[in-house]
This record gives sequence, C-alpha cells and structure tokens, in this order.
Amino acid sequence: MKRIGVLTSGGDAPGMNACLRAIVRTASVKGLEVYGVLQGFKGLTEGRFQPMHLRSVSGIMHLGGTILKSSRYPRFLTAEARSEAAQKIREAGLDGLIAIGGNGTSTGAYHLWREHAIPILVCASTIDNDLYGTDFTIGFDTAVTTAVEAIDRIKDVAAAHDLIFFVEVMGRHRGFLALYAGLAGGCEEILLPEEPTDYDALSQRLMDGRRRGKTSSIVVVAEGDVPGGAFTVAEEVRKRTGLAVRVTVLGHIQRGGTPTPRDRILASRLGNAAVDFLIAGEQGKLVGEIKREIVLTPLKEAIERHKDIDQDLYQLSYLLSQ
Ligand code: F6P
Repeated sequence: MKRIGVLTSGGDAPGMNACLRAIVRTASVKGLEVYGVLQGFKGLTEGRFQPMHLRSVSGIMHLGGTILKSSRYPRFLTAEARSEAAQKIREAGLDGLIAIGGNGTSTGAYHLWREHAIPILVCASTIDNDLYGTDFTIGFDTAVTTAVEAIDRIKDVAAAHDLIFFVEVMGRHRGFLALYAGLAGGCEEILLPEEPTDYDALSQRLMDGRRRGKTSSIVVVAEGDVPGGAFTVAEEVRKRTGLAVRVTVLGHIQRGGTPTPRDRILASRLGNAAVDFLIAGEQGKLVGEIKREIVLTPLKEAIERHKDIDQDLYQLSYLLSQ
C-alpha cells in the first residue's frame, strides 16, 4: 500500500478534523502518500482529490466541521455513481480509502467495497451515535455537551416563568442524543423514536409533577419521535393540561463547534487505528471502540444491525427527575 485517500461524508460531526489529522499524520509517518477527497462521495465521483502531508492538518484539531467539506449525496446509492467513483480511485492510483462518517457513509462504503473490491475502512463519526460496532461515535460527546448547555439555559427561563419547555434535539431515527442530553440535563421527560409516545400518560405525569411541587418542566424530544417533533408534542400536552408551553428546536447548533477532549481522543484513536488496519490488509469494515478497545466490525453488520438504547439510563432519568 503506497497511496490512500481520505474523505468525510454525510452530516458533519465535531471531531472529524481531529480524525483526519490522525489519519494524515499516521499515514505520512508510515511512508504513505495521502490524498484528501473534497465533499465526500460526491467529490469522489468527480475525482476532486488534493494531496495532503504532515502540515496540511496543522491547527485543525479544535475545529468543528470538516476542512475536506462534506455532502449528502443520494446519487451514491446508484451503482452508476459508485462505478464512476471506482474509476476515479483507479485513475488517481489510490490503493485504499478511509471514510469518516455515519450510517449513510458506511452504506456507500460497503457497496463500493463489495462491487469494486476497493480496500476501504470507515471511522465511526456522527452526532447521532446510531452506529452498531462502536459504543460511541466521533461527535456525539460534543453534541450532548452542546445540547446540555442549551437545556441548562432553558431551565432558567422555564423556572422564572413556570413553563413547560419542549426541547427538540437531533436524531431522526434514534434517540441516543435525546437520552444522554435528557439525563445529563435533569429533564422530566425524554421522548425517543424507540418508544411509543402516549400523550395522555405524558400529560398526566407532567400534572403529577405539578402536584409534587414542580413549577416548571423540561421535555426533551428527539427529532424523529413523532411527525412535527416538539411542536406536535407541545400542542398535544397544552390541549390536555392547559399549561403554558414553549418550544425550542436546537437544530444544527448541535452539529457545529469545538470538539470536546473526549471526541478528539476518540477521533485520534480511530484515525490512527484505521491506517494501521488498512496497511495490515483489513477492508470492508467499520473502525469503532467498544469498552475502550478498538474494534473492527464488517460494514454489512454495522449497517444492518441496531445498537440498543440503554434502558437503564432511560429508567434512571425518570427516577431522578421525580
Ligand atoms: O445525521 C446527523 C443529523 O444531524 C441528524 O441528527 C439529522 O436528522 C440530520 O443529520 C439532518 O441532516 P441535514 O443537515 O442534511 O438536514
């Protein structure tokens, strides 16, 4: 293996740059040439490659976003787009590829590897943490931190005016971010896509809280919980309780910003390991961390299997917010 490519794809996540830095530095130290691919799979099909070296990744450890840029590129779901990408990879003389991203990235990488036998590994990175094959993904810790900071501020306002706030956090399909932000934020309710939402029971619990002396409450709603998200939930509760409600949607604020030290360390470990694994001949796998150990999981498994929500944390949040 002499020359490799690296790209960031899908939703950006804080720590992608730290991972890129680890990949470029590890590969350079081991004598490999590295090419950065601009704009993820879109740039791959267009052959948008740029040479990278030790100094190309100076001063990026603390930056959110991705200096390589990213893209949502549904066209990569077609075999035609993947053939174009494979052709560009061959023309550039790349012997392997490391992609940094989440579920969509792993899906694209899996098909590219399966159809064109291109040695490819994926470093697990998404604020959603919804990837099987790793306890945590790069970016999740920062997103939780950002959401909790916002919830802390909203609590001040809720308490000052005796309000119920519905705070919508990201997470289209899974509720990891909602669960961690809700527990760390000391919130009364956490609504996850994984659990059915019962408006009568929810309203009842919020009224019970009032009877126990609570004057305000925070309900964290995962984006994918119900159609309309936090706005729908707030309206259903208002209709049933008559209580004053407010909605805050945190949105893309959760994706940006300086990565936490925990995310930087995870990113550094996964990026470094990915290069070593690629050199050792591993391919078609997700690079993750389970119980502090670096672990490889076949991409097929990573995209087909589901990581479970920690029910103990879910129950704990209810107990402690009584
Ligand atoms: O996958 C990360 C994520 O931030 C999800 O939580 C969210 O649903 C989605 O991306 C939003 O994507 P976009 O920025 O493309 O609208």
